[in-house]
Amino acid sequence: MPATSVIGAQWGDEGKGKIIDLITDRADVVVRFQGGANAGHTVIVDGEKFVFHLLPSGVLHPGKTNVLGNGVVIDPGTLIDEIEQFEASGRELMSRLWISGAAHCVMPYHKRVDNLREGRKAGITIGTTGRGIGPAYADKANRTGIRMWDLVDADRLRARLEANVAEVNELITRVYESDPLDVDEIFELARGWGERLAPSVRETGRQLRDDLKTSKHLFFEGAQGVMLDIDHGTYPFVTSSHCDSLGIAAGAGVSPREIGHQLGVCKAYCTRVGAGPFPSELHGEVADRLRESGSEFGATTGRPRRCGWFDVPAARYAASLCGFDGLAITKLDVMSGLGEVGLVTGYRIAGEVHEEYPVDTPMLEAAEPIVTMFAGWDEDLGDVRSYEDLPATCRAFVAEITSRVGVPWEILSVGPARDNTIMRETA
Ligand code: IMP
Repeated sequence: MPATSVIGAQWGDEGKGKIIDLITDRADVVVRFQGGANAGHTVIVDGEKFVFHLLPSGVLHPGKTNVLGNGVVIDPGTLIDEIEQFEASGRELMSRLWISGAAHCVMPYHKRVDNLREGRKAGITIGTTGRGIGPAYADKANRTGIRMWDLVDADRLRARLEANVAEVNELITRVYESDPLDVDEIFELARGWGERLAPSVRETGRQLRDDLKTSKHLFFEGAQGVMLDIDHGTYPFVTSSHCDSLGIAAGAGVSPREIGHQLGVCKAYCTRVGAGPFPSELHGEVADRLRESGSEFGATTGRPRRCGWFDVPAARYAASLCGFDGLAITKLDVMSGLGEVGLVTGYRIAGEVHEEYPVDTPMLEAAEPIVTMFAGWDEDLGDVRSYEDLPATCRAFVAEITSRVGVPWEILSVGPARDNTIMRETA
């Protein structure tokens, strides 16, 4: 069986956590390959709500292995808190959680710099989650990062921290005119994290390649979404990793050949949190309705999400970039009662009609959406379990999305719980 990837097809928050949890019974191993604690994957099981920032969403299935690959940036303190909270719910985790030694750590100074940079009056503000993601990936690219292997070795940790904190203190005090950080304090904290996590640290890439050789089924769980990808998203209003399926091979240490089945997850409408172009954005009553009924508030930061209609050219772009085999369309239930539902089918830019998504951000910023409206539905969809039982107008809306994006649906989600789901037979 080929490996499966589950990727956000929009600006993140598409409901990937629920989808991963739903299909994890078919997996042996669930792997995160990028991002960090900026993610917030919400999973509801038997009425109990879990929000995972770093742990793969497969952890709720006993017996499944969970991996944080080398492409993830790990805030060790947040990870330990998350592990402890999870184990406090009576579920065992440590024997089935593996952390790549090559994954980089998010250190307290990364978070400090992230927030200082965002708080500046001059320059571009991205509206980051403040989780230190950009500065941690910057250190990785600068070759000054601290990897998990360094974290668990006190001598290496001390040497790297000495150099890094001295440099970062120059930046903090001179450029941002803020207070310096204390290297001894950070070292003590980080040494404790290293001791706690050491038993789970290993060469996960080799382990995953061995798993593939023995026909284990791997699931790659994306965080964020294609439009937030550092190269292919709305740069500079993006996160700092490859959050489309192009990042899987590098971020997990497996050959690109192994990624067999690609599932793109999208909401039946769009949301975006943070700054940056969002052509389908709505303001007023419909946006407020979507935000309230869809609980569109950031799982990591609590910020209200910007809401808009489903953006067809953006989803088609995501599908062509990743090569999606199927779509999971989530939150159809949230659109009940709107009267009419819209799709953005193109953009008008400087008077010209564009049916394809423009990758140059200033063009996207200038884009006016071309919206086509369809009849909506009023029914509560939570108990619907088959496509045929959906209201005809809802089926027509799903068919418009899939035919315009050019990818069939595999899963339709009609509520937050595991069983609020319609699965295509072949999915
Ligand atoms: P960062 O990843 O914290 O650096 O934030 C960069 C941009 O990505 C900001 O606009 C964030 O709001 C956005 N972002 C990061 N993680 C997520 C996520 O999990 N869901 C939605 N947006 C995200």
